[in-house]
Formats: sequence, C-alpha cells, structure tokens
Amino acid sequence: MDERGFVAAQAFILDTKKYWSTAVVSSLKSEYRRRVRSTGHEPQSAADVHSLIGDTTLYRYYAWLERHLQRLKYSGRYGLVPYHRERADALLAPLEQAADDSRLELDPDLVLPKYFAAVDIHQHPGSVWGEPIAGLVYERGARSTTPMMGSRHRDLHQRFTDLVNEGGACKHLLDMGCGFGKSTKPFYESLPEAEIEAIDLATPCLKLACHDAVQAQAQNVRFRQMNAYETDYEAGSFDLVTSTMLLHELPPKEINRLFDEAHRVLAPGGRMVHLDFHLLPDAFAQFLHYGHGRRNNEPFMQPWAEIDVAELLAQKGFRNVSVEPFAEADGVDVTDNPSWRFPWTVIAAEKA
Ligand SMILES: C[S@@+](CC[C@H](N)C(=O)[O-])C[C@H]1O[C@@H](n2cnc3c(N)ncnc32)[C@H](O)[C@@H]1O
Repeated sequence: MDERGFVAAQAFILDTKKYWSTAVVSSLKSEYRRRVRSTGHEPQSAADVHSLIGDTTLYRYYAWLERHLQRLKYSGRYGLVPYHRERADALLAPLEQAADDSRLELDPDLVLPKYFAAVDIHQHPGSVWGEPIAGLVYERGARSTTPMMGSRHRDLHQRFTDLVNEGGACKHLLDMGCGFGKSTKPFYESLPEAEIEAIDLATPCLKLACHDAVQAQAQNVRFRQMNAYETDYEAGSFDLVTSTMLLHELPPKEINRLFDEAHRVLAPGGRMVHLDFHLLPDAFAQFLHYGHGRRNNEPFMQPWAEIDVAELLAQKGFRNVSVEPFAEADGVDVTDNPSWRFPWTVIAAEKA
C-alpha cells in the first residue's frame, strides 16, 4: 500500500466522520424533535426513542456510517491494520529497544480475562493485544477518536490531569488501564516528584508506552502488565488511583472488583479519580450512546452507564463521592451539544 493512498484514504474517512458527527447527527436530532412534538410526549427510555426514529432511513444511514467508517478506518483497503502489518518490521524495531528497559515489566503468564479476549474492541481486528503492531494501530486510531476537537483533541488527557492535580499533590499514583501511555504521560510530566505506576493487560500497548517514556527521559514511571482488578500492590500503597476510558470496557462484576481493588490499594484519605463515559442527560443521549456501544464492539457500555456509581461507591465505604460531567474541550455543551460527543464524566471519591 502506498503511503499517499493511505494518508488520502484516512483523511477521507476522517472528513466523512466529521460530516457524520455534525450534519447527520444534527439532522437526526431535528427529525427526532419533530416527531416528539407531533406525538406530544417525551420519550423516557432508549427503547422509546428507537420506536420513534429507529425505522427511519436517516437513522439507518447514521448507524451505517458509524459502524462502517470505523470498519474502513481499521480494516479497509487502506485501513490502519493492513498499513501497519506491511511495515511491521520497520515500525516495531524502535519499540523492541524499549522492551529491555527497567521501566517495563511484562508478565508472560498473565491470563487475559474472558471479557477482554472475546471482543475486537473498537472494531480493531485482533484488539489492542492480539499482534505486535496493535499498540501502534491503537495509537494511530486514537488520534481521530474525537474528530470535532481538531487540534484541541490533545486537550482531553491534559485537562483531566490538570483537574486531578488541582485536588492536591500526590506521591504515589496508579494509572489503571494505561493503554499506550496517553493517559499516563501528562501525569509523569506534571508530577516529576511522584512515583507513577501504570498498568494494562496489553503487551503491545505497554511496549509503546514505555518507548515514549524512554524518549521523554521520564524517570518517575513504570509500566507493568497487570489486571487492574487483581493487582499485586500492597494494601494502602497509593495516595491516588486514576483511570481514563477503562471502566466502560469492563462487565459489571469486574467493575465491582476494580473499585474494591482501588479501595484496597489506596491509603486512608487517598483519592480515586476516573474519566469515563457515564452521565447521559436524556433518553435520546442514551439511545445514541448504547447504539454506539453496539456498533463499536463495546458490549459493556450500556450496563456500565446503567450502574448507580455514586450509590455503589458509597456502599463500598468511599466518601466525598462525586459524579460530574466533564468538558473535553473549550466550548463544549455537556448537556446538549449540537454535534456528536462522548458523555465524558469524572467519577471521584476518597477512601475514608
Ligand atoms: C480505551 S483504552 C484507554 C487507554 C488509556 N487510559 C487512554 O486514555 O488512552 C482501555 C485500556 O484498558 C485496558 N484494560 C481493559 N481491561 C483491563 C483490566 N482488567 N486491567 C488492566 N487494563 C485493562 C485495555 O487493554 C486498554 O488499553
């Protein structure tokens, strides 16, 4: 595959995704509002919304574009996976140098949880762990996860880090589900005095995360291959536990275990702060979001959104629990944004 063809095809997919997330979403919203007005009563659930617009050509067009643009992006003729496979040796060579670095600790005996191994998440063939190029593919794909943000896209993790850091200094931080290190990097850069542990299940992502930390000459971070809901850390060893975009990937039972594990590894008074997709302001937002989960191979998006997380954390003995919408860029309306957006939410709590 020639580089020019790949770049042009990916740019086309991204532009079409922007058209989908603005013009198509806005037409769908208008049609929905028109139908609500004509029936005279407000839908109360995603199923109600489906019965109003689920059969329209417009909704089917919207859903088809959502599913198939993502599919083209990963597996099409000029997709991320074939592109990286063709260049695997050259692209992976720099990462292999980081494989022996003391900042990286892989666990060849780790058994992947069933929920994780069963699904090609994000429609990524082989998922984020299945082949050596998977971390690079995920990194490239994540650059256009929120296309409307343009150059402000990078603000997301930095903004979250700033918010967490406003809550006070920390000495020992655990970033659960760090992926290729995008969520960890703003922490190791902004907290040079802190010791940062970042864990994930996926070897290819951890290798890329470590490679980036080596490039950045970061001395305060370690990437370890470990399951977030059964870590080997001592009880009470962290004053801050974070995650970004991890919780919605777990089934409810595993979410429960993850919160228990976070509680166990936190010192008394320690904080836990997660950024994820959770608060859905109305039935229409639920309809779009649950559909997104199905179309993007994220089967636990809906069960996670339906959990009363404030109640759950209070039951587990956390205090000062807050569940708040999060604006991922300037100018975003967290209650009714005209274009498509994830329902970003910050879930924070303290160990009593
Ligand atoms: C959507 S990615 C987010 C990565 C990163 N936090 C970011 O914001 O870019 C979710 C990550 O969680 C990891 N993950 C899923 N289940 C996990 C578990 N039980 N323990 C540790 N990591 C897990 C996946 O491998 C993936 O890298």
